[in-house]
Amino acid sequence: MQHFIVDPDIRKAKTLPSDFYTDEQFFEVSKEKIFARAWHFLGRADEIESLKPATLLPGFLDEPVLLSRDGATISCLSNVCTHRGKILVEEACKANLIRCGYHGRRFALDGKFLSMPEFDGVVDFPTERDDLKKLPLAEWNGFLFASLESFAEFGEIVADLPATDGDLGPAVLKLRSAKEYEVQAHWALYCENYLEGFHIPFVHKGLNEIVDYGTYATETFRYSSVQTGFDDAGNVAGRYVFIFPNLMFNFYPWGVSVNVVRPVSRTKSVVEFLTYVGDESKLGEGAGADLHSVELEDEAVVESVQKGIRSRFYSHGRYSPTREQGTHHFHRLIAEFMRLA
Ligand code: FES
Ligand SMILES: [Fe+2]
Repeated sequence: MQHFIVDPDIRKAKTLPSDFYTDEQFFEVSKEKIFARAWHFLGRADEIESLKPATLLPGFLDEPVLLSRDGATISCLSNVCTHRGKILVEEACKANLIRCGYHGRRFALDGKFLSMPEFDGVVDFPTERDDLKKLPLAEWNGFLFASLESFAEFGEIVADLPATDGDLGPAVLKLRSAKEYEVQAHWALYCENYLEGFHIPFVHKGLNEIVDYGTYATETFRYSSVQTGFDDAGNVAGRYVFIFPNLMFNFYPWGVSVNVVRPVSRTKSVVEFLTYVGDESKLGEGAGADLHSVELEDEAVVESVQKGIRSRFYSHGRYSPTREQGTHHFHRLIAEFMRLA
């Protein structure tokens, strides 16, 4: 797919060709080339008491997994029985082994096959294939991530990011609310809008009064980027960490708002908003005070772009070298992944 080339020099580069967003085939290709290799967000480690089922990108990858705690160790396992394929654990529960409700196959908390009734005499059984597949699992700032087949170690992805426990981001976070927004736009349009503060003065009048546009800063790393907004007094009002391709960690004085962008179709995405509060007394401070209004403002522009890029007169644009480094970096990663054999 040599079609996808974004010049590393932002001054020379053109944005992604519009057919990346409009072509059904490219949407399907992005599922395997980008999302099947990505790390997926699985909430807080301290939310896992014993067994907790989850789905990696529901409605898109739809991979059923099971988080399983054995003492201090958490594993992420396939939640599909290795006998005939039933989902093993349907809702969070406490248990010291995993037992399939269909024919009674049992597994240890680390996924090892334990026993199976009525299988005496079965040749070459059990083998490793009868264990539950264990997925790579990573923890960062108390958040969990799993991957089917990762493009890089999670530690490598977050290694360059600034520490988030200093000026922002309390260590003890509690999930306070979980919301989903349905956006009538391609997942990448939603992400690339998030990745620049260029539009703040035009689109977010309220936010623009809190964040100082002049000092707004973007740093890019191999697979991640960070935008920092300061208030007029020079304090950090919000720090926006993006992990390619679809995870957003927004650190505010009161805690962290996590957004997961889930592709649904070429023209539809769901954005999860998970609010983790560390310091109740600071709620309402900084740039994260009115996330709902800001979200609706973003959705309106992103949905407008979704309509615009279908035009036969539009194929791609150019970048502002001072204001669109995050978007350029994101497009370069998409082009890189789409070109993979
Ligand atoms: S499907 Fe699980 S024991 Fe048969
Ligand atoms: Fe915005």
